[in-house]
Amino acid sequence: MSSRNRFLMCHPQHFEVSYVINPWMEGNVKRTSSELSARQWQKLYSLITQSAEVELAQPQPGLPDMTFTANAGFILEDKVVLSRFLHPERQREEEYFEAWFAAHDFKFHRLPPQIPFEGAGDALLDREQPWIWAGYGQRTVLESHIYLSMWLEMEVLSLRLTDSRFYQLETCFCPLESGFVMYYPGAFDEPSRRLIAERVPEEKRIVLSEKDAINFACNAVNIGRQVILNRASPELQDQLEYAGFEPAQCELTEFLKAGGAAKSLALRLNESRHETAHPTAQPVLEFPQRIVELEGHLLDSNLMSRVMERIVEGGGSFELLEFNAGSRLQDTSRAKLLVTAPSQERLDRMLSSLIDLGARLPLKDSVNATLASVQQTGVAPDDFYVTSIHPTEIRFKGEWHRVQNQRVDAAIVVEQKDGKVTARCRLIRELQSGQKVVCGVDGIRTLLKREGRETSESASLVRGTSEIASEHHVELAVEQIAWNMRRLREQGGRVVVVAGPTVVHTGGGRHLARLIRDGYVQALLGGNALAAHDLEQAIYGTSLGVDLQRSAPGRGGNYLHLKAINKIRACGGIAQAVNQGLISSGIFYECVNRNVPFALAGSIRDDGPLPDTQMDLIKAQEQYHKLLQKTQMILMLSSLMPAMGVNSMTPAGVQMISVDIDPGTVNKLAARGSAESLGLITDVGLFLSLLARQLEQ
Ligand code: ARG
Repeated sequence: MSSRNRFLMCHPQHFEVSYVINPWMEGNVKRTSSELSARQWQKLYSLITQSAEVELAQPQPGLPDMTFTANAGFILEDKVVLSRFLHPERQREEEYFEAWFAAHDFKFHRLPPQIPFEGAGDALLDREQPWIWAGYGQRTVLESHIYLSMWLEMEVLSLRLTDSRFYQLETCFCPLESGFVMYYPGAFDEPSRRLIAERVPEEKRIVLSEKDAINFACNAVNIGRQVILNRASPELQDQLEYAGFEPAQCELTEFLKAGGAAKSLALRLNESRHETAHPTAQPVLEFPQRIVELEGHLLDSNLMSRVMERIVEGGGSFELLEFNAGSRLQDTSRAKLLVTAPSQERLDRMLSSLIDLGARLPLKDSVNATLASVQQTGVAPDDFYVTSIHPTEIRFKGEWHRVQNQRVDAAIVVEQKDGKVTARCRLIRELQSGQKVVCGVDGIRTLLKREGRETSESASLVRGTSEIASEHHVELAVEQIAWNMRRLREQGGRVVVVAGPTVVHTGGGRHLARLIRDGYVQALLGGNALAAHDLEQAIYGTSLGVDLQRSAPGRGGNYLHLKAINKIRACGGIAQAVNQGLISSGIFYECVNRNVPFALAGSIRDDGPLPDTQMDLIKAQEQYHKLLQKTQMILMLSSLMPAMGVNSMTPAGVQMISVDIDPGTVNKLAARGSAESLGLITDVGLFLSLLARQLEQ
């Protein structure tokens, strides 16, 4: 039976590395030895001829990679889908391979010119089940899989390659006899790894280490029980033997320099269909597609590239159907894209992230948002739409309705009472059984603020798109922030401060107290530690035992901290402590005096806690949420957890300033994709003193 196997090979007479089209070729130009490569190839040739027939293609001068015959096309029975190489360097191989297939009576399918597909380098027949594993994302484009499936009438399982070292499927994935699959998970994105796990039972998955993967162990020729590969670690050899295979190592190091090994050098010519029915196998003749429209300053706001990036990251692919860039500075541009994904789930996930960026899905007039009922209180329907910070509208009975209470990570509940329709964001835990929740992606749109071009240098600091300003920008930024705060105070606006205990440690407490006293702050959010440190400071002049005036350790670390908490507990709370005269300065003193409300959220590591600290976190979230209503500006001062909580409750349009010495924290908080957020990497004490000074002027 094995003698009936046939392969196509091509002598490496003209093989060398003469250009670089994959990472393996880098540094290897003109570094191969023709004598050694001929010897290595010969060895592979004789190994294969022991159990199969080998046909030879005529090597061509000037086509050094033609020796990699696996890239000639994808074969099934008497049909071949011809390759369309991505790189011009290899495109001339196409005609020679085509001639070879024609001379050997193959019927061929030819892809449209703009659709790259690299043959058996990227498409591999499962050796037991009736489906084709196909790679995309590096050389081959997703759309080619649609043709493959349609022409060959077979299901194609699309796997997205994410590591440029593994630029073709057969460099990191190898179906073996009896339904085994040998692969390197690190080369794929998460949904692809999940797909492999869904289709291949665990005992049939041979998972490779990176070490074996970079030795091209996946690039193996499997004939019956034999697995011919460049090199396998002892562990991999054991794994293969345990699965009933006989690994045969055949050194192909010269070819590795070009990014290929055993499998790349031998194209199997006899491929037949497997009729075994697998419960999930189905010929998918079409991939889900959707038209998406964009409008705005697509180029200068980077929106276009963000959209493309999200499509590619989401495992999809797109075709730009229309693009109108406008002709003047102030013109907006419009784009229309056709987005394709390998599965509905992937498409929906991708579309909802595009909606967040302001993309529109053109609708037929009759299409409304899809609603599904909550079946279990506190649990949303599986495919519920997850909200973003951007103002959102949903379409219900032919009309668009603005979603209220906009925040991230919520579901949209639609209600109709006395003919009045309301749509609002609700947390999962708030959902009541029977409520109608928006699902899928239809009939949903977000209204992105039209970002104009920045007009002045200083404006870009405050209104820059999630810009992180560095040290030398701080003073300028502070000036802008101060200006805004003064304006908001005059207009009766609302500023909320979210602060961590570092504010007190770094000596910023008195400046913050000053801002509160002067009416710049309308609410304060924090945790137990912020208040405990401030109150310790007010009672003892220390913060965690450190005397801030003299910056020398005072009477002992936690000691005074706990004494302070204890004293406040004795009074019954912060306001009582102020009223009883125990506290006569500091942040919380000013809050109580000026009637500025505050909310303190508890945490597992809290000392005390203070009677004012809300240890029920759901209640604490509600308190925060209440104080954040109608806010125009939020200052997040060296606070991570409370600030992250605030972040997710706050819709776009609120100016958010995050200040921390740690760039990681600032990054997390400022990168929310809204134009109004600004990050400042600086000492918070310094920031507050600068701000207080500006505001005094
Ligand atoms: N230099 C060739 C390329 O980058 C190597 C191809 C190896 N073949 C393969 N199927 N991996 O296209």
